[in-house]
Amino acid sequence: MGHLGLPLLVVLFTVSGLVTWGAGVTLTKTTDTFDHRFKIGDALGGLIILGIAGSLRRDSYNRSLLRAAASLAPPNLELETADIASIPLFEGDMESAGMPEAVHTLRKQIAAADAVLIATPEYNRSIPGVLKNVIDCVSRPPDPPLTGKPVAIFGASPGPYGTIRAQHHLRTICSILAMLLLPRPEVLVPRAKEKFDLEGDLTDEATRELVRKMMLALEEWTLRRQRGKEAAGTGT
Ligand SMILES: Cc1cc2nc3c(=O)[nH]c(=O)nc-3n(C[C@H](O)[C@H](O)[C@H](O)COP(=O)(O)O)c2cc1C
Repeated sequence: MGHLGLPLLVVLFTVSGLVTWGAGVTLTKTTDTFDHRFKIGDALGGLIILGIAGSLRRDSYNRSLLRAAASLAPPNLELETADIASIPLFEGDMESAGMPEAVHTLRKQIAAADAVLIATPEYNRSIPGVLKNVIDCVSRPPDPPLTGKPVAIFGASPGPYGTIRAQHHLRTICSILAMLLLPRPEVLVPRAKEKFDLEGDLTDEATRELVRKMMLALEEWTLRRQRGKEAAGTGT
């Protein structure tokens, strides 16, 4: 290769990366194919957030809340949503026989995401069993993907307390699994019926502003953690 060969290659690689970005290709990455040096998303500030709503209800307020978070997020933050409907009830025999494909898929999605955003309903002053089951399923060794992952939580309820008790329990679970939980802002959405319209769009301006602030804070929280890892030379 002549003396111009290497610089030319670097220029070609950079240009092709930017063209890929410009063409609007989704910034997906898996832990297998991830190349730390040429992470296009990071170069331009882009992050993938995996949204998990702890409700299977068709008109779920919490699924609507996740959708609102996606639309209110800063431009370089992309929200994908996890499908938890096919996650089976955890039991030890299933684990011994090998976890079902749906669990493997969710684990990979979590591992590939830069951060996770959980919208929790409140059931009997705690989180719904369906959400606890999802967390239990992906919490098993080796390499539980939520451990060390930046995470934000929020929730909506038709009642007056806006999931505060469910979020309190969820914070305990997050800390036990060593997730990196965004401390604030706390986003509680009480009286959800008054905050969403019939299409499930979040219309309450004060709540929209709070969600916007939380997404900005999650972006900063995630980037800070990634920069810290890079400085320590451990990568992702
Ligand atoms: C079994 C059960 C228990 C509930 N317990 C509470 C509760 O403790 N606090 C509360 O604010 N809402 C409670 N609710 C009402 C839920 O907040 C409401 O159904 C909500 O819409 C669920 O979230 P989703 O709309 O995302 O499905 C309960 C609902 C069910 C079905």
